[in-house]
Amino acid sequence: MLVLGIETSCDETGVALYETGDGRLLAHAVHSQVAMHEAYGGVVPELASRDHIQRLVPLTRLVLKKGGRRMEDIGGIGYTEGPGLAGALLVGASYAHALGEALGVPVLGVHHLEGHLLSPLLSARRPQFPFVALLVSGGHTQLMRVDGVGRYGLLGETQDDAAGEAFDKTAKLLGLGYPGGPALSALAEKGRPGRYRLPRPMLDSGDLDFSFSGLKTAVLMLTKKEHEPADVARAFVDSVVEVLVAKCVHSLERNGLTRLVVAGGVGANKQLRASLDAEAAKHGFDVFYPEPELCTDNGAMIAFAAAQRMQAGLGREHGFSVKPRWAL
Ligand code: KG4
Ligand code: ZN
Repeated sequence: MLVLGIETSCDETGVALYETGDGRLLAHAVHSQVAMHEAYGGVVPELASRDHIQRLVPLTRLVLKKGGRRMEDIGGIGYTEGPGLAGALLVGASYAHALGEALGVPVLGVHHLEGHLLSPLLSARRPQFPFVALLVSGGHTQLMRVDGVGRYGLLGETQDDAAGEAFDKTAKLLGLGYPGGPALSALAEKGRPGRYRLPRPMLDSGDLDFSFSGLKTAVLMLTKKEHEPADVARAFVDSVVEVLVAKCVHSLERNGLTRLVVAGGVGANKQLRASLDAEAAKHGFDVFYPEPELCTDNGAMIAFAAAQRMQAGLGREHGFSVKPRWAL
């Protein structure tokens, strides 16, 4: 079956085609609205919704062309039902349900985070179940135990800011624009390690939760004194990475698991990857990442998650629905 995936939860319009027959991603395309929102220093929800409306049809045509298929070949549709911006989600839901009605095919709402945490299964090197997933995006920081499709257990999560949010806010403090995560991590690579030391929030909390909101205050204090931006960036990244990595190791040990999956935008961070790979070699576990282009929001992970659910008979019968706030 050919499954069309639609992602419109925030500021990326993602569309993809996944073929369940040979388990292959046929095509995917993403339009990022970053340039449009940049002027405002953050996502403007109404502008995001309007832009999604304009992008969905051309992107669908594009993936059909890339994949060498026709509209009538689509056998099922998955769309991001939540969490995310209500208006943006409604655009994807309306489009998916209208198209599903016209084609007479099933339409399934997908949890955005389920998409992220299954996305490493689209790589050539795929993890086996069970595994621990670290979800680190602009809106979420969670550790999940994943025993199979639809079988997720929350191990720990952030008490305040998400890791990506901390990156973006700190980048703003350093004048790096929006969204600053990638720019901040590039700047940090030029910084001297150990020049400044920031706190390691909740490192010794004894649980698997996180807290990142205090870090930006610590960075703010540093920037008030004489400082070298690259060294501050380095101190920030070193702190976030140390805490994330330590909690990943604890999660694996506590659950007796040896496979770790890293998903979400912050998973693209080079320092995080290098540190996880080093710990993996030391402790004898395996780390799996999505393809770099599938780390941030995309339609491929939604098509894939929908396909997995449809195949496992795990369809949700929510009808036309969006859930701006929704726990996995
Ligand atoms: O998963 P994602 O595309 O969107 C959400 O669902 O939030 O993640 C976006 C987040 C942003 O906060 C962005 O700054 C961060 O991921 N990000 C990074 C890097 N690339 C993206 N953070 C740190 N290092 C990176 N290389
Ligand atoms: Zn996301």
